Order: sequence, then C-alpha cells, then structure tokens
Amino acid sequence: MEASIIFLVAFIIIEAYSLLKTLLNSYLASSMGILAIVLGLLGAYGLSKRNKIGGYFALISVILGVSANCQYTIKLSFKEIFKNYPMLASSVSLFILGALVMISIFKIRLDYWTGQQLEKLDAKDPSSEEYAIETENVIKKYIVGSNVITAVNGISLKVKKGEFVSIMGPSGSGKSTLLNLIGALDRPTSGRVLIDGVDISKLDDKELARLRNRKIGFVFQSYNLIARSTVKRNMELPALVSGLSKKERLKRIRELLDAVGLSGKMDRKPKTLSGGEQQRVAIARALINNPEIVLADEPTGNVDSKTGRTIMNFFRKLNRERGTTMLIVTHDPEIAHMTDRIIYIRDGRIFKEERME
Ligand SMILES: Nc1ncnc2c1ncn2[C@@H]1O[C@H](COP(=O)(O)OP(=O)(O)O)[C@@H](O)[C@H]1O
Ligand SMILES: [Mg+2]
Repeated sequence: MEASIIFLVAFIIIEAYSLLKTLLNSYLASSMGILAIVLGLLGAYGLSKRNKIGGYFALISVILGVSANCQYTIKLSFKEIFKNYPMLASSVSLFILGALVMISIFKIRLDYWTGQQLEKLDAKDPSSEEYAIETENVIKKYIVGSNVITAVNGISLKVKKGEFVSIMGPSGSGKSTLLNLIGALDRPTSGRVLIDGVDISKLDDKELARLRNRKIGFVFQSYNLIARSTVKRNMELPALVSGLSKKERLKRIRELLDAVGLSGKMDRKPKTLSGGEQQRVAIARALINNPEIVLADEPTGNVDSKTGRTIMNFFRKLNRERGTTMLIVTHDPEIAHMTDRIIYIRDGRIFKEERME
C-alpha cells in the first residue's frame, strides 16, 4: 500500500515537471498531463485511505501520463530528445514509475480479492454454535487384504467451544484415526463429523482445505515436517496459503518459536533438531493461523515430563486467553489430568468419561 503511494507521488512530480517543460507544445499532451496529475493526486489520497476507487484513479492517471508522454516522445525526433537530456531522463523514469505503480496496485487488488473470498467463506460458518466438534456414531473401517479392521467403532462425542479435552487410550485403540476424522484428514465409513455445526462431508474440496488451513490447527503424531525445508519455511507454508503478509508471517513465527522455547532455531532443518524440538516446531506450525480449534495427536509423546508440562501449560494459556478449543490425544495420565475432561477409548469405542474439578 505505502509503496504504491510513494511511486505514484514520484510519478506525479515527474509528470508535472515534464508538463512544465513542454507546456503549450501540444494542446492534447498538456491537457492529458494535467488530467493525469489531478487523477494521480486523487488516487494517492484514495490509496492512503485504503479506498478501492483510489486504486482506479491511480491506474488511470498512470496510463494517461505514460501515454501522453509516449505521444510526446514519439513526436520528437531522436536528435531533439538527445539534445534534451532532462526530458529523456524524465520520460524513462515516468515509464519505470508507471510500471511500479501498476505492479503495486495489482498486488493490492490481489490481496483484497483473496481477502474477500475468505470473508465469504467465513460468513458461511455459523459461529453461534455451542459445540466446536461433534461426532455422531462415527465408524471407520480399514480393509487390509481380506481383513477388515474397525479402527473407530461408533463414537459419538461433543466438545463445547472453548473446552479443553483429552482422549486417552492404549496404543491401537483408534485415537489417531478418530482425530484424523475430526480434522477432516480422512472420511468416516459411516456417521457424521460436525465442525461448528457444519457437516464436513457436505463441504467441497476448497471449503475443506480452508477449514483445515484456517479453523483447525493439527499437530501430527509424526510431526509431518518437510525435511528439506528450514523451520521457518515449514512454519511459513500454512501462513502463505492463508494469505498472511510477509511481515506478519515473520512476526508470528518468531512469537510462536519463542513460546515453545525454540527461539533462534528458525533456520535449522528438522533433522538437526531432537524429536522433542521437532514436536514443538509441529506445535508452533499448527498455531500459525490462530486456529479456533487445536487437534493434537500425542503432542507430548516425545518430550520429557517437564517439557510435556510446559507444552500443556502453553495450550492452557491459549485456551484461556483466546478461547481456543483443544482436543488432545495422549496415553499419559498426568497429561490427561491437566485437561477439563478425559474421554477414555478402547477398541474404537468410548468406555468412560471423567470431568476434572
Ligand atoms: N491406514 C490404516 N490402514 C489399516 N489399518 C490402520 C490404518 N490406520 C490405523 N489402522 C489400524 O487401526 C487401529 C487404530 O489405529 P490408531 O488410530 O493409529 O490407534 P492409536 O492412535 O490409538 O494408537 C490399529 O489397529 C491400526 O493398526
Ligand atoms: Mg496414534
């Protein structure tokens, strides 16, 4: 935004200068020049007020200015132009500045457009819902050769907005499968999953992608970090998709790495970090777009119990301060007891629930 105004003002000044030099040389060129300056000033004012019409004024001004200048330059013979260095310089700078104004305005339009698309999708989400997550008799079967494995066998649960819930169960009990279904990473064999009251099986691919990118922060059990990329790049990707500006991205990455105790490790590759550190990068990455819901699959599985408590305290803080809904899978009773409610699952079914004081 600021760049386009600076380019435009420089453009106006040079346009005014070349106009003075050529004034009354050509009636058409001078009137176009004056019009370009007036529109340019209106455009600069509009842009500074973040007004969409300002952008159009600026564009018309630049096109007028450049074409008036073109017309003038073509009229003169080469000899005359080279005799007159200041005019040549101002013509060239007008072309360059004109191009810069156009590029920066198109960039603004693009940002504006993507922002609008996202707002449209946001408007679709009924945020008055009481429950952030609901599953209705969800079943997930895997077919392996001639065997059918029922990983999730009819789970119905509800998680209120702003609740901090854990899912406990032995290895192989279906915790990861359930979390993947809730996170729209997989589709149930039968049953429904609702996020903010919206049945996610009814969403198209674009809406699903947006849901995963913006509304849900998913911490994978296996981290899912890109090995070739740095920590910064790994964290940047989901923010790029959601359209966060470069400045905001860097600020968020720094804040989050600080929060998980990894400041200064931004340029490291995942394989140069310990398992626990990679886990914390995965946690920080899940939070980059300020999700309303965090789904975390054994987020403390590879850290010592002290770091585990630090991570849980960080989640709790997020939950208190931002009202983020938290659903955490763990097999560690100490971790589970730091949440509001524990859902125990075994063989793909809920067999007990416990509410903390
Ligand atoms: N992609 C898959 N294909 C076949 N079987 C799977 C797949 N994913 C999980 N399972 C099986 O489903 C059951 C539940 O797995 P999982 O959800 O990973 O359990 P947990 O996370 O509680 O350890 C296990 O028996 C596992 O072997
Ligand atoms: Mg698992």
